[in-house]
Amino acid sequence: MMKPIASKIALNLILLSAATKSFAANEFAANEKVEQLFEQTCAACHGQSLKGAMASSLLDNQWTTDGSDSALQRAITEGLAGTSMPAFGKTLTPEQIRTLVVYIRESAYRATQTNDSLSKLDKPLTTKHYTLELSEVTSNNGIIWAMDFLPDGSLLYTIRHGELWHLSPTGEQTLIKGTPTVWHQRQGGLLDVYPDPDYANTGWIYLSFSKPAGINAKGEAIAFTSIVRGKIRGGNWVEQQTLFEADAHNRKNQGWHFGSRIVIQGDFLYFTNGDEGHQNDAQLITTQNGKIHRIFKDGTIPKDNPFYHQANAQKTIWTYGNRNAQGLTIEPTTGNIWSTEHGPRGGDELNLVKKGANYGWPTVTFGMNYDGTPITPNTELPDMQSPILHWTPSIAVAGINFYTGDLFKAWQGDLLVGSLAKMQLHRLRIENGKVIEDEVLLNGLGRIRDVVSAPNGEIYVTINDGDTKTSKIYAIRPKITP
Ligand code: HEC
Repeated sequence: MMKPIASKIALNLILLSAATKSFAANEFAANEKVEQLFEQTCAACHGQSLKGAMASSLLDNQWTTDGSDSALQRAITEGLAGTSMPAFGKTLTPEQIRTLVVYIRESAYRATQTNDSLSKLDKPLTTKHYTLELSEVTSNNGIIWAMDFLPDGSLLYTIRHGELWHLSPTGEQTLIKGTPTVWHQRQGGLLDVYPDPDYANTGWIYLSFSKPAGINAKGEAIAFTSIVRGKIRGGNWVEQQTLFEADAHNRKNQGWHFGSRIVIQGDFLYFTNGDEGHQNDAQLITTQNGKIHRIFKDGTIPKDNPFYHQANAQKTIWTYGNRNAQGLTIEPTTGNIWSTEHGPRGGDELNLVKKGANYGWPTVTFGMNYDGTPITPNTELPDMQSPILHWTPSIAVAGINFYTGDLFKAWQGDLLVGSLAKMQLHRLRIENGKVIEDEVLLNGLGRIRDVVSAPNGEIYVTINDGDTKTSKIYAIRPKITP
């Protein structure tokens, strides 16, 4: 929709002549924080809170341009003909202009978050197709990180501080004894649990966790991502085998971006290993961090892995340039593997996982640093795999699962996506490799770290309360109205 702009032009012209003087080249340090940048360069016309002043609001989703990222980027770079919007292409770097676009998106998102848009358990949870009913399955202390069903309908779940729990179909809870000792600091701990798809015959259960690696030269405690499998017998974790560990010389994680989700397809086990807070490593094929890996279920390495024959390469690498993938799942109808990846501030990603592909981090991203300074102007580059979808602002995208049940017939084949910071459950419809719908089903109930399509057709979500450090698992079903 076009905005009435003519009436504002006269005022803007006065302001423009005053404003232009201050736009001297190099006046803004390239690492200027976006909040200051906006205040000094844009607020005079668009208002301090972006609500509009001489120029119109940047929050109301009413655009003079077509409103796309690239159109906003172009308007800021080249100015807008026929209006007093100045061209900033000579005074701001492309990186800075990208941070301004992210900032506009974040601010516009905040403006839509009213009390009405939040889900509450005591009011109808309406969605496009169904009204939802939630019931509590279990609750426990700590952060439930992952869950998955066994063929008998019982549920396994991990708590990040290092516990694996078994919940029987009749509701009996057992803490499994003898699971590995984990390094529980910052984002580290016991992470994913994934039963062998052939569990009925093999009995294997796969875990990922942060393993202590002593202290580094500076005296700081460090850890790395480890993948193991074992069996549960009589409430005990037994027969453990280690399948993957970082090489001793590259154990340096001080608490960030461990990954790490697991999926198994046929004989292959895929797992994510975050960049461990060393972002430039993501582009190196010599290290384990910032990658998605493929190994056989017994831990041996397939010879047709993309870098298997390359000297010095980490032979388990399947993809690289990944920041911190905390969602990984197989699409049942196609066999495609999908991942979700936390962006920095902006630029959370949904990716189709392709052999040998470079997902670009940190050379390419839709986001900026948490402090509002730029990372890169590049949102895409040749030879780097672009996401299928990106969320800017970030929702802190977490566990994902395709819905395969019968209770929500209209959602069959849709991808369910959990979010931490924005506390949302999304439903994505994907057609021919493109997301054609992104519906927020739940908003604000708590941090949703994992979601599973349950065998009985319900949707299970783990909800963490960031303040009390307790977690609940909820079952979601359609509310039948009498
Ligand atoms: C001298 C006044 C002025 C300044 C300074 C200014 N703008 Fe604008 N801007 C305008 C006007 C006028 C328009 C066009 C119509 C409107 O929004 O009123 C506009 C349009 C835009 C648009 C396109 C919006 C749309 O509707 O498609 C964007 C994006 C934008 N400005 C961002 C910025 C950013 C970011 C800055 C700071 C780097 C900035 N502007 C600084 C006056 C200004």
